[in-house]
Amino acid sequence: MSARPRFRVHICDGCCCGTIRKHPDVDHAEQRRSIAAAAERGGGQARVVGCLGECHASNLVVVRRRGRRATWIGSLLDDTSTEHLCEWLADGADELPSALRSNVVERAVADERARRTAVLISNPSRSR
Ligand code: FES
Repeated sequence: MSARPRFRVHICDGCCCGTIRKHPDVDHAEQRRSIAAAAERGGGQARVVGCLGECHASNLVVVRRRGRRATWIGSLLDDTSTEHLCEWLADGADELPSALRSNVVERAVADERARRTAVLISNPSRSR
């Protein structure tokens, strides 16, 4: 039996996040792979999910840690922000580093509702 992950990462890949139509300069597949690999190194687990309802902040991920409010991190549109995220995840996703604070998305909608409606699309470590 495998151990329960320390945290879970939902990588949004909906109508805006993960699309070359909206973000043509981002290598979305590589970004998903990097995030998933970093999460695994940090003891977490990543999943690609459908639109999470915050398209204005695409590309977006949600990091869920036991006993803490979910952290929504958006505007992951360059190597630097993706690297900051990956470093945090690989370190176990404990205290959010200051480098990511400007990427935090404050949620207007109840987070629990979004968690229940997140639609699993695929395992991010596989190419699509
Ligand atoms: S496509 Fe990611 S929040 Fe809508």
